[in-house]
Amino acid sequence: MGHSVVQKLQWPIVTELPSLSPAPDSAATAAQAPQAGSAAPAGVAYPKTIKSFVRRAGRTTTGQAKAFEDLGPRFVLPYAAAPLDAPAAFGRTAPLILEIGFGMGEATAHIARVRPGDNFLCCEVHEPGVGALLKRIGEQEIGNIRILQHDAVEVIDHMLAPASLDGVHIFFPDPWHKTKHNKRRLIQSPLVAKLAARLKPGGYLHCATDWEPYAQQMLEVLGAEPLLANTASGFAPQPDYRPLTKFENRGLRLGHGVWDIVFVRRN
Ligand SMILES: C[S@@+](CC[C@H](N)C(=O)[O-])C[C@H]1O[C@@H](n2cnc3c(N)ncnc32)[C@H](O)[C@@H]1O
Repeated sequence: MGHSVVQKLQWPIVTELPSLSPAPDSAATAAQAPQAGSAAPAGVAYPKTIKSFVRRAGRTTTGQAKAFEDLGPRFVLPYAAAPLDAPAAFGRTAPLILEIGFGMGEATAHIARVRPGDNFLCCEVHEPGVGALLKRIGEQEIGNIRILQHDAVEVIDHMLAPASLDGVHIFFPDPWHKTKHNKRRLIQSPLVAKLAARLKPGGYLHCATDWEPYAQQMLEVLGAEPLLANTASGFAPQPDYRPLTKFENRGLRLGHGVWDIVFVRRN
């Protein structure tokens, strides 16, 4: 996608009120949605800092361990509470996209390949996931990814300067289904405000989820952020760079819906 990611993506800005209608062809059942305009359901106090993950036990395979050993030194960046020097970390200057929570890295690797002109800074706390993405980087000879195995909230707070990002990807973040756990969701006003401030004018925030109440929350929270504007009237068509992953295909076969939400930073 090259240096002109912001111009080339050419997101339209839609100013009318967002529609909360489900994605076309969705058979997802509408579960209880949060109150319109509010990030937190009644009775749930949201904390100042989000703990959006649990450290899951998981086996790192031999192949992943080898990828850590061979490729970790080049592709895994150390976390430091100091601004990131992105050109030094990537060895070039290019538009910078932050991804939060890449899981096993299937979509991440695909997107990095179809957008060779962009730099992807990818955060994940789950060690086998980091190993899996490193393995894909090796197998697919990908050069434009750097990994931070660290809480993305701290990365945003301490490593990313205002107006330093061209885009943010948050795909299928943990839905934290139970109401009492909703406070652990990533998409809440304070974090969205921080992300918006770190986007350049014209930079985009792309979220996707298969959990309809969370999709509605995303639309409401992003819609309430003054620095952001929706690129669609409600949910967005799936941008062509985001692949359908195995997990998503399985869900679609079972009749579940998927919602994409794409906002841009105003000038
Ligand atoms: C449901 S998975 C989705 C993974 C992937 N995006 C996909 O579409 O398959 C969410 C991932 O986000 C990671 N995650 C959640 N909160 C995070 C945070 N604050 N920083 C880094 N990773 C996080 C979790 O470890 C988990 O692997």
